[in-house]
Amino acid sequence: MKILFLGDVYGQPGRIGLREILPQLLEKFRPDFVLANAENLAHGRGPTERQLAELAEAGIDGFTSGNHIFDAHGYEELFEKKSFPLARPANYPDGVPGHGFFVLKKGSKKLFVGNLLGRIFMGDPVDNPFFAAEKLIAAAAKLKIKNIFIDFHAEATSEKSMLGHFLDGKVSALVGTHTHVQTADERILPKKTAFISDAGFCGVLNSAIGAKPEAALKRFLTQLPAKLEMAEGRPIVVSGVLVELEKNGKAKKIERIYELVE
Ligand SMILES: [Fe+2]
Ligand SMILES: [Fe+2]
Repeated sequence: MKILFLGDVYGQPGRIGLREILPQLLEKFRPDFVLANAENLAHGRGPTERQLAELAEAGIDGFTSGNHIFDAHGYEELFEKKSFPLARPANYPDGVPGHGFFVLKKGSKKLFVGNLLGRIFMGDPVDNPFFAAEKLIAAAAKLKIKNIFIDFHAEATSEKSMLGHFLDGKVSALVGTHTHVQTADERILPKKTAFISDAGFCGVLNSAIGAKPEAALKRFLTQLPAKLEMAEGRPIVVSGVLVELEKNGKAKKIERIYELVE
């Protein structure tokens, strides 16, 4: 089984870049399932139904998210309608809208997709992601699904690498998101879990992780609040990973995807 995963798709430029390059990626890799992190789809702040539809139309089968999942207006309705497979971090408290995982099916192939949020250098005091990960694995076992892909949306490489160590052999892939910067530590862990600290993002390359640098810079120089605006122009970077699994759900290969759309 081949899974193509694209990191945080940031605003309109991210969506445009992804839509432009996706046909080539699909042609080249022929993935069974295509996933994308949707937490920044709407101008950096959460996904809306229209934007999820836009990417589903382009070929994305399911969406993970992160700390910005509840930023866009209408998220309750989005989760109620369930128009698209969309996971919010599983370690938000009980009662929060949405679910921490979804299952994709194509023919006889099934993929369990889970989402977790980190706690180190993050603003949200969510439940412990390590214990939440165990609950996700139990949910997949109950459904008898061996192919388990988890997007760990977190800031610190320490937390990401230790969750990788903790989940080695228990999930097929643990892929980090949130920093919007792709790391070069992709590997198959000893017990056959595919791992990377961060898959990177899809958005304007020369930006403050997708936004115009001016406002971000003002914050650093003055500590004053400044509203972030969407970055413009090209190239647009499209980054992620391609993960290949054996029939038993163990990882065979993980490869970084990094494309510049001029
Ligand atoms: Fe993000
Ligand atoms: Fe994030």
